[in-house]
Order: sequence, then C-alpha cells, then structure tokens
Amino acid sequence: MEYAFEPVIICFCCQWCSYAAADLAGSMRLQYPTNVKIIKVPCTGRVDVISLLKGLEEGADGVFVSGCLLGDCHYISGNQRATKRVAHAQKLAETFGLNPERVEMFYNSSAMGPQFAQCCRDFTDRIRKLGPSFKKMAPDTCAASAAPDTVCPGHPEKLKLSTDLTARGSIHP
Ligand code: FES
Repeated sequence: MEYAFEPVIICFCCQWCSYAAADLAGSMRLQYPTNVKIIKVPCTGRVDVISLLKGLEEGADGVFVSGCLLGDCHYISGNQRATKRVAHAQKLAETFGLNPERVEMFYNSSAMGPQFAQCCRDFTDRIRKLGPSFKKMAPDTCAASAAPDTVCPGHPEKLKLSTDLTARGSIHP
C-alpha cells in the first residue's frame, strides 16, 4: 500500500490578530488544510526558541508563528522578538541538520482571514515538498534513526535535535 505523506504542522497564533484572522477564515468558510494545528498564545513574543524546535523534535514536520502586523503588536514589540527568535530557530535547526524552511514567521491582522488561510496553504505545500521530518521515517528505511549522529543517504536531515538545547547556551537570540 502506498504511503501518502500528510504533514503535521504547528502554528503559534497570537490571540489578538492572527487567531482572530484564523477565526475569520473559518467564518468566511475559507478552506485551509487541517494539517495546521493552532496553538493560541497571548502574544508571539511568548513563543521561545525551545518551543519552536521542541515541536519539530516531538513529531511536527513544520512549525510557524503568526503574529500581528509589524508595528501593531498589542504588547508593542512581541512580534519583533518573535521574528528574531524564528530566525534564530531556523539557524539552530540548520545546525541540527534540519531544513530551516520548516520554521517560519508570518504576520496577519484580524481582518486578514483570507491571507491567513493562504499562509496555511503555502506553508503546508512547502512542507509537503520537503517531506516528512525525521520522526516519521520508518526505522528500517532510515540509517539515521539507528545512529542518531549519522546522515541517512535518502534523507539528509540528521537526528541531532534531541541534543540538550539549553546545554548549547544559545536559545535566546
Ligand atoms: Fe499579536 Fe504581540 S499581540 S504579536
């Protein structure tokens, strides 16, 4: 039987703008992939680098943050902080052998339901093209799962994310 890959995606949404945009998309009956699981946060400034990478480590294939438009954060600069943290998480993901495109930042106001739905579609398409993250690979098909620090020839991402991030001392940008 053919295995059809469907990514699991986590979206951290700020309660003021992006969560309202997600709500609006629902009210407008706009279709967006059910792959996206939304976690509501008070502000994207509350999302730390560990949460982003932990999502990938625990089995998500992609993680994105959706905040207020730049300059419109209800806590002044939370989304700017989130932007820096996402960029930092992308760099760290790369050092662990993960494609940095598995982590992304978007900005949506409460009136941007259609744009929010589009972000979800675009990001899901991107992750579909990247394929499953290492957690989803069957042990017998992935050399990396047998030896965490090796690279699977058929899948260039390494299984190194479980390295203790805090021990690396660089979780805050
Ligand atoms: Fe929306 Fe800060 S309140 S990003």
